[in-house]
Amino acid sequence: MEKPRKKFIDVVDKAMVAASTMDRDELLFSYKGILYPVTVCSPEVFKAMESLEARSDDVILAGYPKSGTNWVGQILSDLVATFEKKTQGEESVNAEDLEEFPYLEVGDAGKFERMNKLPSRRVIFTHLLPDNLPRSIFKSKAKILLLIRNPKDVATSFYHFSNGMSLLPSYETWDDFFIAFMTEKMPWGSYFNYLSEWNKYAADENVMTITYEELKENRALGVKNIAAFFGISLTEEELQGVVERSSFQSMKENSVKTHGALGSILFRKGGVSDWKSLFNEDQNEKMDKAFEEHIAGTKLGMKLKYDVYCKA
Ligand code: A3P
Repeated sequence: MEKPRKKFIDVVDKAMVAASTMDRDELLFSYKGILYPVTVCSPEVFKAMESLEARSDDVILAGYPKSGTNWVGQILSDLVATFEKKTQGEESVNAEDLEEFPYLEVGDAGKFERMNKLPSRRVIFTHLLPDNLPRSIFKSKAKILLLIRNPKDVATSFYHFSNGMSLLPSYETWDDFFIAFMTEKMPWGSYFNYLSEWNKYAADENVMTITYEELKENRALGVKNIAAFFGISLTEEELQGVVERSSFQSMKENSVKTHGALGSILFRKGGVSDWKSLFNEDQNEKMDKAFEEHIAGTKLGMKLKYDVYCKA
């Protein structure tokens, strides 16, 4: 996905300008009990979303903020674009005039009517809980790639992002952020609730779960498995191109074109276990307990390999 994403950058730039003149407590609003940033989401968009006509060949990525959604999103978009290019020629789903903001819940209320007219295959990202997605997504049996990341690194990444990104409330200290993270004050809701809700769908045949850590460990295998799940048939060489373009280094270098000003905030470390630089003993204990209570022993809980990635 080497092309500049003009509309993506426009939306983010405008939101950053709007947020820069707002007070901290004006930045989020609540919809059905979950907080969202006012500069990119709205109740009107949530209401209009139900009109999305999902298709069985939609490529859907579900992931909580800071799980690596931009990373896996690029892999999916690149797989689809590479396939379209070889089967339909250069101008296809990624043409600029067809571009919509890739996160379903971000944009204007007219977005879903426009999306209904887009050619297949559409690539759609979302941070939403399954119950807040349009019902047609589940009815159509569209395939969903569910991306999860160990909760300590999610919190660490979210802390740095909140302090770098004007759209989100910032925190004076890590300790303040940790309390907010553990008490459901995050935009898009609590991560533990997110994991429990998505766990209800984790065994569905149209849902594949992948962890940030397994992708980090073996990106080539991850890309191959993702392509196979969505039935995207590419040669080894084409898959290798997708693997190379999705390295942290390559995405970071290309980020001015793909993400504009957001790029330097988003592509931070791109590693595993950075939480060790922030968590104290008490915070480790609190998160270990929350994990145990909410998600350990479930399909997603086991997939996360908490003992490997979250124990000091
Ligand atoms: P860190 O803050 O730990 O560096 P999201 O896209 O869901 O907001 O997630 C952002 C996280 O994914 C950031 O984590 C970012 O660095 C990481 N990330 C983005 N691209 C990546 C890549 N190509 N490889 C590994 N991590 C990546």
